[in-house]
Amino acid sequence: MSLPPWRPLLRGARQREGRSPGTTWLQLATTAHDGTPRVRTLVFRGWSSAGELELLTDTRSDKPSELLGQPRVELCWLFRKAREQFRLRGSSVLVSAEQEPEALRDHWQRLSPSGRMVWAWPTPGDCFCPEGPWPQEVADEEPIPSHLLILRLALDRVEQLDLKPHPHLRRCWELRDGWLEQRLNP
Ligand SMILES: Cc1cc2nc3c(=O)[nH]c(=O)nc-3n(C[C@H](O)[C@H](O)[C@H](O)COP(=O)(O)O)c2cc1C
Repeated sequence: MSLPPWRPLLRGARQREGRSPGTTWLQLATTAHDGTPRVRTLVFRGWSSAGELELLTDTRSDKPSELLGQPRVELCWLFRKAREQFRLRGSSVLVSAEQEPEALRDHWQRLSPSGRMVWAWPTPGDCFCPEGPWPQEVADEEPIPSHLLILRLALDRVEQLDLKPHPHLRRCWELRDGWLEQRLNP
């Protein structure tokens, strides 16, 4: 399957950022059970197919249950050097180690020992517990924590806003039979 037309644009914007760690940080917006919005930063972990990306999270945090109530999400990904914003809309699926052990193992092995530490910490969002445990690293041979979760997003609408030209370039792609492009006023 060929790449969606917005993928090379996203790659170009990422490349302009160089090696800055923030290049993989994006904001995930969900809907809480009371209908109000929630937004937070996550790390982009890769593409699982042409129009499907993966994030990692923790079953113990709030977002998995929010996503079961409302699987539609929007991501906002800002590229400062490129002066471009991408808004990615789609449907989420939660994938556990029981469902896809190999996919989870691949992600776990690719994480650095310090990148794994948050999954070894006490329940996110609970009252702070000083006794921990608060390890700074988790070694390769440690078992995959049962609360590691893949958040797989099947995208169906992508919007780019590029502040470099005058006037700014804003366009969107919607997934129908293929990806239909439309230019919008900025
Ligand atoms: C730079 C940065 C990267 C983060 N990456 C992740 C991540 O990849 N996965 C994740 O679940 N939380 C990540 N977090 C923490 C989330 O922003 C959030 O605080 C946490 O997941 C709890 O969110 P929730 O209570 O809305 O579920 C990151 C935070 C920052 C500041």
